[in-house]
Amino acid sequence: MGWNPFNAFRLAYDESMVMRNAEALVRLGLAGKGYRYVNIDGWWLNRNADGIAIRTNLFPSAALKDGKTSFRPFVDRLHAMGLKAGIYTDIGRNNCSQHWDKDSPNLPEGTVAQREVGTMDHNRADAQMYFADWGFDFIKVDACGVADYAPGTPDVQSRRYRAVPPMIVRDNAVLSSPEALEKLYADFAIATRDAAKSEPPVLAICAWGEADVNDWAGRHGQMWRTSGDIRPTWASMLRNFDSAAPRALFAAPGRWNDPDLLEIGNGDFDGDHLTEARAHMSLWAIIAAPLMLSYDLDKAPATIHEIAGNRAVIAINQDPAGNQGIILSSEGDREVIAKQLATRGAKALALINRGDATQRLSVDLTKLELVPAATRIVNVWTGQDVAPAGKMLVVTLAPRETLLLGLEGKPIDPLAIHPAEMPARISVAEHGFKPATRTVDKPWVPARVGFSPDGAPIMVDGKHDHRALGVAAGSKVHFALNGEFRTLNVSPMVEGALRADYRIYGDGRLLHRGPADGKPLVVSVADVRQLEFVAPHHTEAMQSFVWANVGLFR
Ligand code: GLA
Repeated sequence: MGWNPFNAFRLAYDESMVMRNAEALVRLGLAGKGYRYVNIDGWWLNRNADGIAIRTNLFPSAALKDGKTSFRPFVDRLHAMGLKAGIYTDIGRNNCSQHWDKDSPNLPEGTVAQREVGTMDHNRADAQMYFADWGFDFIKVDACGVADYAPGTPDVQSRRYRAVPPMIVRDNAVLSSPEALEKLYADFAIATRDAAKSEPPVLAICAWGEADVNDWAGRHGQMWRTSGDIRPTWASMLRNFDSAAPRALFAAPGRWNDPDLLEIGNGDFDGDHLTEARAHMSLWAIIAAPLMLSYDLDKAPATIHEIAGNRAVIAINQDPAGNQGIILSSEGDREVIAKQLATRGAKALALINRGDATQRLSVDLTKLELVPAATRIVNVWTGQDVAPAGKMLVVTLAPRETLLLGLEGKPIDPLAIHPAEMPARISVAEHGFKPATRTVDKPWVPARVGFSPDGAPIMVDGKHDHRALGVAAGSKVHFALNGEFRTLNVSPMVEGALRADYRIYGDGRLLHRGPADGKPLVVSVADVRQLEFVAPHHTEAMQSFVWANVGLFR
């Protein structure tokens, strides 16, 4: 949680604006509620023998008496305010603004080599400078340097920049090179940890959902962008939300899907659009996304600060179990997402109207595994109680309204846990089959709860199986059971009545294998720490696989 200038100012910002906003974070009580990281975007003058010189026209406190520059005074000031400090770089030689903001007066200057301010070939020295010398706590590492400087492009032909064969070809996972890109981030992550004096800094990987970043980013960083840049429009907010929402099984404490900075306070989410601002905040909260404010805190009305600072909503976002909400249903403009909280019977529920017409929406509370009559439901934004009608909760939603509810109830089966109640314990160890086209807008997610990798709901006997795991053929999915469960129930099956052999392992030992015929299995998992589901290899007729009706019993 923190603040970043980019959505409010893009690159037209300076130190006084950052400090003004940092002070506002503290004064408005937002820092006390968790918004502690104050991050900066572009800042460089050039690379020289001492490292990278800072633009002192933007950051006057960086000018030292000996003519050199340092962010130490800036970072010290933030630390003295009880805040943390974040910096920004690129995994290539050059950065995003040099390609996308050519008219900015604040681009790096000098020779080709001096303008190479990215980390490529400078990992250790740069990490030393950012963390040991300057004391930053967070770094966002962008990827334009390995995407936008291909041989033959105008920037390269004009000899302004050296070519880097692209590791990311935007919207084309097939032409991108995930292994090469992962290696760059892995090396930088090591350099970062080695340079840090105490706590390792947060590494935010900014590869915009490209190059199958989900598959590898969590091994090296704490958060990774799942899409391109958010803009202050309703459609853009939904697009970015949709890039992260189906990827719940990749998130866990310390590793988060990042649908980008918040646009609360800007454009469609400003003080005249509080329904949209609340919806945006509710959506980021329910999917446990990083909450990075990015509006001008001095200019926005109190109503916007109240939305950003709502304690109950923040508590849902920051719940210690670290479960990302799971999509329960999604039909046209109506969507329901449930987030299991750390307390056993406690959940958050987002009832979402994505469209511009009023919608009626109903949720069957038993699908949340709770006893309806014993469940207390509170509207998180108003604090008011909400009463279900029997097992159904029926609500009317205004255009673009999201109702965020807190539920406290009794599990229907106190001994059972289902995938939607434990996404932070489930992870994808091997992606398995990947179709040739998979883009941010047309994702193929290797493992999901209740839905197939292509986004279709999993139907078993004509009903949506909200306890199923839909996976890619050939995928491996892990469950961190930590020896807490006795038995596993599951019905392995292939859509279209095909047969294929699956395998289930416990701590590397084969527990079960067989033809997937949809029959329910009961497997002993006593003492198993790590359970592994291995789906059959893909064939032309079989690209995905279903682990139906999954339950773990204590
Ligand atoms: C890219 C990133 C943005 C921002 C800009 C800065 O576009 O995706 O989040 O950091 O670069 O130039």
